Amino acid sequence: MKTILLIHGANLNLLGKRDPHHYGNFTLKQLENQVKVKAKLSDFKVKSFQSNHEGALIDYIQKNSPQAGGIIINPGAFTHYSYALHDALLDTLLPVIEVHLSNIKNREGWRNQSVIAPVCRQVISGEKEKGYYKAVVVLKKIMDSNNKLQNKK
Ligand code: DQA
Repeated sequence: MKTILLIHGANLNLLGKRDPHHYGNFTLKQLENQVKVKAKLSDFKVKSFQSNHEGALIDYIQKNSPQAGGIIINPGAFTHYSYALHDALLDTLLPVIEVHLSNIKNREGWRNQSVIAPVCRQVISGEKEKGYYKAVVVLKKIMDSNNKLQNKK
């Protein structure tokens, strides 16, 4: 069974207490558990991590990506300015899906831009928890087609 990393950045430890209009009513633990259930259906094991610290996220990515097949990440506000996180994800060479609970294109201007998006295979924004379930399906497709390509070689 392949492992995927489910990574959350700044302030997402407070899900359940943050504005429910943007972020829903569930806690991070509940969200992670739901993603694990969906991922199991796609034959994935999920390793999850959250930090409010950019460096801790980068250390986690560097340490865990060699044993993983893909990454689902919601970087929180790091999305909008962390070139260091961009580089860390790029260096993994893994397929990365960026997910946002809220629609970042439909909020304050500074949230419209993602500096992470260029290293992601897809950005899913504004679909609350469903965005993560979609991300699992997208990752599955990408990883399966990568496998097929490798088998042909
Ligand atoms: C977020 C959107 C970001 O702009 C914000 O800073 C977050 C959460 C989202 O999931 O909608 O903390 O990534």
